[in-house]
Amino acid sequence: MTTVRVPAKINLQLGVGPARADGYHDLATVFHAVSLYDDVTVAPRAADGLGIRLTLSGEGEGSVPCDQRNLAWRAAALLAEQVGLEPDIDIALRKSIPVAGGMAGGSADAAAVLVACDLLWGAGLGREGLVPLAASLGSDVPFALYGGTMIGSGRGEMLTPVLGRGELHWVIALVDGELSTPAVYAAYDGLVRRPAEPAIDEGLMHALRAGDAAGVAEHLSNDLQAAALSLRPSLARVLEAGMEFGALGGIVSGSGPTCVFLARGQEHALDIAVSLSSAGLVRSVRHVTGPVPGARVVPA
Ligand code: C5P
Repeated sequence: MTTVRVPAKINLQLGVGPARADGYHDLATVFHAVSLYDDVTVAPRAADGLGIRLTLSGEGEGSVPCDQRNLAWRAAALLAEQVGLEPDIDIALRKSIPVAGGMAGGSADAAAVLVACDLLWGAGLGREGLVPLAASLGSDVPFALYGGTMIGSGRGEMLTPVLGRGELHWVIALVDGELSTPAVYAAYDGLVRRPAEPAIDEGLMHALRAGDAAGVAEHLSNDLQAAALSLRPSLARVLEAGMEFGALGGIVSGSGPTCVFLARGQEHALDIAVSLSSAGLVRSVRHVTGPVPGARVVPA
């Protein structure tokens, strides 16, 4: 039995280019893994159990499908095919990452299953060997294998590490409901007729290298934010509230609807978290730090 802990991601920058022929968009993004985790346990099934059995608790319990529609399931099936064996396993997802929240929770679970099954089946692919499989499952899955802070290009699957200094403190505002990533990209195509080719913000790189939280806050950007707000206008009030409560900066995470706020440090983050939760605008809040490593086996 193997348990893998895998982090959520936020995008410090999400630059989105024009729609490509394959329906994806070229990105210039900065992924940042934060200490909000799903725990994924994979175990061989008892002798009479065949196939993949998936169970899920926590975020998304009762609403997320536990069959081949789940990316974690597809990750196990894909690796089994690659290795040439039957996937007779139990997968248990214990989720703290919001579902369809813009934090790549489904991608994180898929990455965790790849790492766990690689070990369980003795496939020996390792992180590097798993990357092509991860990329074929989804644009955000390779990043979940690595974590840290990384530049993503292509559709987000091509990664380069960013050398940053220090720890950033974030307040995550979990809001009710979900946003579909394809729907947000479609809204973006409707709003932005001729997007420019996106480029990485050098000011953001400089602030990360200097460990300058205020500088990072100044350069947070998300090209999908207007599209997410057009589908969920109430998010504007959440973003405003975070800034009124003193956050250095705030943005919609990825395709939303989760919003994230940058704080000066731990106490400042806790202050913002308390104010946000008492304002009654959000479902719940979490104080997290980043960067943190990607999918890792939890020692037994
Ligand atoms: O890669 P993934 O399956 O996570 O992408 C989900 C959807 O998000 C895609 O089908 C596409 O509509 C949109 N997307 C995009 N450009 C990207 C990443 C995702 O248009 N770079």
